[in-house]
Amino acid sequence: MAFPATRMRRLRRTPVLRELVRETRLSAGDLVMPLFVEEAADAPSPIEAMPGISRLPVAGAVAEAGEVHALGIPAVLLFGIPAEKDEEGSGAWDDDGVVQQAIGAIRAAHPDLLVIADLCLCEYTTHGHCGVLRGEAVDNDATLELLARTAVSQARAGADVIAPSDMMDGRVRAIRAALDAEGFEDVPILAYSAKFASAFYGPFREAADSTPAFGDRRSYQMDPGNGREAVREALADVQEGADMVMVKPALPYLDVVRRVADATDLPVAAYNVSGEYAMLKAACAAGWLDERAAVLEALTSIRRAGADIVITYHAKDAARWLRP
Ligand code: PBG
Repeated sequence: MAFPATRMRRLRRTPVLRELVRETRLSAGDLVMPLFVEEAADAPSPIEAMPGISRLPVAGAVAEAGEVHALGIPAVLLFGIPAEKDEEGSGAWDDDGVVQQAIGAIRAAHPDLLVIADLCLCEYTTHGHCGVLRGEAVDNDATLELLARTAVSQARAGADVIAPSDMMDGRVRAIRAALDAEGFEDVPILAYSAKFASAFYGPFREAADSTPAFGDRRSYQMDPGNGREAVREALADVQEGADMVMVKPALPYLDVVRRVADATDLPVAAYNVSGEYAMLKAACAAGWLDERAAVLEALTSIRRAGADIVITYHAKDAARWLRP
């Protein structure tokens, strides 16, 4: 039936009608807040390109996690910035390392908050690459063992979920096997399956001090032009034992979120990364956008594309705005 019998505007007439027929909802329960924990810090240090976000000492991360939890956000995603780095990134699997300490302290203080541990070596290596080097190349298979060790160390510290972000081939299988062998068969893996070699990670690398000393990450992170390959990556991770898959970044890759969501029945996460946050914050600070409306629209679009879980630095603000 066409106009005039059909009038699309009938269902848009009032707020309550629009609410009734809304297809996609956003709530605090869909969000994950990333936190940067810095070993050498004794006070929060603001990150210039990420207004409102700081590198935190362990105690600061515990306090921040408490605020996140109180706002109804179910999980934090932890990144560690160690006091010292080396060629192999050994700080990553140090049982007394900064992330391990933060996991333990947050779990003790906020037992109902989920603690997701980002698993990567780039914050821990002197060269800033996500694996061990052989010459100037990142050695895939040699890196797997170090990732597996790190996953076990994070699980031992009490991590609820392990989230590998390194993009080495076979890492989900290696991590699953290592966790199972150590009695952590109940710890799920959230795989950063389709992680693109993106310019939008710029502010994060300032925050985590993880810019590669030479070259770039294009030999392991995905080419921005590839959508089919993202589906292959996600399905490979599913076969290797991933419990959840992720697409990253989010807003420039909403088509990829949709393809991955259609291709698998696993929960799908999307990471609204540091550069996406920086763009919105800058435009809002200049008075060019209404922050509340723009952020809620952007996060809703990520859900509409097919993401069940949205990892975002806007999580606390969004949760406040979404409060019933
Ligand atoms: C580590 C990692 C990165 C991000 C998450 N985990 C950076 C990178 O790959 O260079 C980016 C997160 C963000 O930009 O918010 N491998």
